[in-house]
Amino acid sequence: MSRLRILYSRLRAEEKQLFAAAESRGIPCSLEDIRTEPWSIGSHDTDVFLARCIGHLQNLSVARMLEAEGATVVNPSAVMELCGDKLATSAALAAAGIPQPAFRAAFSEEAALEAAEQLGFPVVFKPVTGSWGRLLALASNRETAEAIVEHKAHLGPAHQVYYIQSYVEKGGFDVRAFMVEGRPLCAIRRTSDHWITNTARGGRAENHPVDAELADLLERVHAAVGGVFIAVDLFLTSAGWLVNEINDGAEFRNSSAPTGVDIAGAVVEACARRMKEEKRGEKRGAKRSAPSCGSSSSGS
Ligand SMILES: Nc1ncnc2c1ncn2[C@@H]1O[C@H](COP(=O)(O)OP(=O)(O)O)[C@@H](O)[C@H]1O
Ligand SMILES: [Mg+2]
Repeated sequence: MSRLRILYSRLRAEEKQLFAAAESRGIPCSLEDIRTEPWSIGSHDTDVFLARCIGHLQNLSVARMLEAEGATVVNPSAVMELCGDKLATSAALAAAGIPQPAFRAAFSEEAALEAAEQLGFPVVFKPVTGSWGRLLALASNRETAEAIVEHKAHLGPAHQVYYIQSYVEKGGFDVRAFMVEGRPLCAIRRTSDHWITNTARGGRAENHPVDAELADLLERVHAAVGGVFIAVDLFLTSAGWLVNEINDGAEFRNSSAPTGVDIAGAVVEACARRMKEEKRGEKRGAKRSAPSCGSSSSGS
């Protein structure tokens, strides 16, 4: 019988909730620490993998190993690649004509400063890969931008891809919308006295109803990036919605209570549908294979 294998590198509230949600629905499930053993490509099974590792690169690497054998991974590595890189996300949004904050990419200190001037201050500098609001820098003027750029120049190659956005007057909050299988599930409004509103940084979460306009925009976002479970961060401005970023491994521990929506339940049910598809594929003789998967701390 196929299993839902939840992969993690640090067990957070979310992975525990996902496991509990699967158990309570009778979905065969295990929790597996990817760090325990080396990985190889070769063994066969029809399990579905829910990749929940914290580090973007670890999650992506594990997904690629699994997909090399034809295994189903939620989310697929192509979605991780897009969502895990803010510049890649912005490029995909731009290609799809989806509104987002004005942004520039730059590949030298001089060009980064020129980008800030072009956008007009204040601007926000962001590492292309990162989360929890880490290493975001708000520059209100050229002097601050010069200091940020100089610091980045000493932070290693990843920081030499400068990603610069216009600062958006967002009224003290942003909105995070959760989507499962391309449909909006629920959304929270994150409010903070600080310009960085992540709940990991103290932002307060409350329910934000998803109206038809927002739902339509979210469906366009999903059409542009794909994914079984994604969280879309947006700003509401006087000119309408702007999509700020898309998360492929979103945390949701603070979102089920205010929205009243069982997010973990919706995610494992989507995975269970994929497990059924896998089984049907097996019956047709289209056997899929997957690598052996480190040690299993199967809790079921
Ligand atoms: N251009 C911007 N204008 C205003 N606020 C921003 C801007 N970019 C980010 N923020 C604030 O910082 C938070 C974190 O930014 P985000 O791009 O989502 O990075 P992370 O991946 O670290 O969460 C956002 O939720 C928002 O509150
Ligand atoms: Mg964010």
